Amino acid sequence: MNKKTVKDIDVAGKKVLVRVDFNVPLNDKRAITDETRITAALPTLNYLIEQGAKLIVCSHLGRPKGEFKEEFSLAPVAARLSEIMDCKVTFASDVIGDSAKAAVEAVQEGEMVLLENVRFHKEETKGDPEFAKKLASYAEVFVNDAFGTSHRAHASTAVVADYIPAVAGFLIGKELDFLGGALSEPERPFVAILGGAKVSDKIGVIDNLIAKVDTIIIGGGMAYTFLKAKGMEVGASMVDENSIELALGLLEKAEEKGVDILLPVDSIIGDKFAADAKVDIAASEHMPVGWLGLDIGPASNMLYADKIRTAKTIVWNGPMGVFEMEAFAEGTKVVAKAMSECDAVTIIGGGDSAAAVKQLGFADAMTHISTGGGASLEFLEGKELPGVAALMDK
Ligand code: 3PG
Repeated sequence: MNKKTVKDIDVAGKKVLVRVDFNVPLNDKRAITDETRITAALPTLNYLIEQGAKLIVCSHLGRPKGEFKEEFSLAPVAARLSEIMDCKVTFASDVIGDSAKAAVEAVQEGEMVLLENVRFHKEETKGDPEFAKKLASYAEVFVNDAFGTSHRAHASTAVVADYIPAVAGFLIGKELDFLGGALSEPERPFVAILGGAKVSDKIGVIDNLIAKVDTIIIGGGMAYTFLKAKGMEVGASMVDENSIELALGLLEKAEEKGVDILLPVDSIIGDKFAADAKVDIAASEHMPVGWLGLDIGPASNMLYADKIRTAKTIVWNGPMGVFEMEAFAEGTKVVAKAMSECDAVTIIGGGDSAAAVKQLGFADAMTHISTGGGASLEFLEGKELPGVAALMDK
């Protein structure tokens, strides 16, 4: 990474504003159900505390749309941090109000203040300079470690860097090393596995990856748009009619570049989109009218797993089927298992594929699971991440 990091600056005794991504899932009792993102921020927070910095930490949680809403409060995260951090943690009940000002004023070396959800102010997502300036006024240094939000040009992720020296935390460094390393110096064969519902969400990624990978494996709902583009009947499967031309263009581009695109040769089909649907198997050439493809089928499972076993670098983004429903989880399971057993660098883009790998119990076997859903997708599309671009160059 060509950006300065926390290791490149002296933070001892200084107030340091740290942007993290504590956008963690909570259940209806407001208990955190997956604290991966908190754990992922700890190396940077602990390092800064050990260096004797005075930490002012901020994050968003959910999309409260610029107003206070109890269900989006970071209070449960503050409570959890108090349990796991080896330092005093104070929770400020606002971001730029009296509570925050008093806590920032009082924070001592080796202590930490967590501000309330920055998205309780509409200025945050607008990237408002005045709001960013107020946040910057709390500290002498800004550290961005919110990889999951680095694709947003928001006040606390990017604009704040206009006002104080800004460097990357360890998590951003690690994410860019893995994702960037896979794209720039992959050991070959390099296989990308792309799934998910909509082709339109993945067009940019496929387009960018065609120039870099040897094979693209396609699954999930978006496979049916590709099959339709190849002239097949896909029954009642979800098809993104507006993307058929684009899908065809991507297939042609891949052929020109000598990149193999694998599409499902069969599917697990259901008579409706529901966990209790009637279930059957159909070859891609013979999808029955009125039924929809909800997972890749057994022949596709074998084909995809064989290809995965030959790879040396694999990037996966998007499940192969509706894995939340047991009847349509097998394809995603087979891909996750094959990846867990293969001798390759295995990288999981965040979001649904990360959730699937964790839910299916294969997380420990992967080389890297990104903490960013949208952010890793935009990175794989080859886009610049504003939260990284704003940081000081090495
Ligand atoms: C995420 O969960 O992907 C990040 O926290 C970003 O959230 P956002 O999509 O609401 O900006």
